[in-house]
Amino acid sequence: MQQIETSLQQVKESLVTAWEAAWDRGEVDRLDEIFHTDFKRISNKSGNVTTAQALKEEILSVREAFPDLVTTVDHLLVDDAAESIAIFWRTNGTFTNDLQGVPATGNSVETRGSNLLKVQDGKILSEEVTWDQSELLEDVGVPSLKSAFEPSNGGVLVDDLSGMPNLDELKGFNRQFITGVTVVTTKDENGKPRGLAANSYVSISLEPPLVLVCVQKTTSTYSSLFKSTHLGINIMSNEQRQTVGTFASKGDDKFAELQWHEGPNGSPMIDGSAASIEAEIKERFQAKTHTVFIAKVKHSEVAQLEPMVYKAGRFYDGAKLSAL
Ligand SMILES: Cc1cc2nc3c(=O)[nH]c(=O)nc-3n(C[C@H](O)[C@H](O)[C@H](O)COP(=O)(O)O)c2cc1C
Repeated sequence: MQQIETSLQQVKESLVTAWEAAWDRGEVDRLDEIFHTDFKRISNKSGNVTTAQALKEEILSVREAFPDLVTTVDHLLVDDAAESIAIFWRTNGTFTNDLQGVPATGNSVETRGSNLLKVQDGKILSEEVTWDQSELLEDVGVPSLKSAFEPSNGGVLVDDLSGMPNLDELKGFNRQFITGVTVVTTKDENGKPRGLAANSYVSISLEPPLVLVCVQKTTSTYSSLFKSTHLGINIMSNEQRQTVGTFASKGDDKFAELQWHEGPNGSPMIDGSAASIEAEIKERFQAKTHTVFIAKVKHSEVAQLEPMVYKAGRFYDGAKLSAL
């Protein structure tokens, strides 16, 4: 018992020093002084189990995104019998550089958490955490879709698809779904129009007039879209096959050959579209590869032109549909 108290006391003293060195100054190897060689970190939220190395990498990526990060340890509670230490902390910082593909917002944030540390042989053997990076993003106003980040098999990080359709089946399912095609538009920081082809458009509700679109984070339009207050959604007409090709590919100036005008808040409305709306971006939910944008429609234009139809990678003339 005496030995346990001594070791817990020693851990407690070195814990705060190493913790602040790692989080506030990026000296992540200082954690080796307090971690057991079998250290593991368990996220209570996601069930993910990670190693000391993964934690070090996480600290460095958070520090890169929040370079002025300052951590304060508010309380340390030692439970001798359970050989555990509870640590209550808070962190302040400014979202200065991208984190997990999420563009920086410049917002300041205070985030809080508590960790339960299990001690063995005077070293921290495991750490149960209530906090993860999704919480940090939520605190800067970018919530995550929980289901996109949950482990598929009790903490194992590799996807377990047993009992689920495989990727080809899922693609096959999607290919059976017929949609129209939109071009989602915005302007970048220099006022240059940007856009991409998207068929993930969904009307959520008429009252309030909410719409949704999912955009892949690796697209070149994504960052401008994320930072915009408004976006444009143009439903392609059957005369815009070439325009779809332009916006479904990469290009420095996709608007060069186009006629377009601005919506009341500056979003590009493409002339010749079957219909266009401008909407104010209300929410941006992080999924792993995509962001779900939810926006409130502020302006709409509907033309007497037939929409284009998209099915399984091919485009069809929406004027030639026959009624069942
Ligand atoms: C019919 C069709 C629908 C598409 N739907 C989406 C979509 O909903 N979300 C998305 O991120 N990309 C979608 N894409 C892919 C983008 O248009 C494509 O990656 C484009 O090159 C992105 O351009 P950017 O990187 O210049 O922004 C779609 C492409 C096509 C042809």
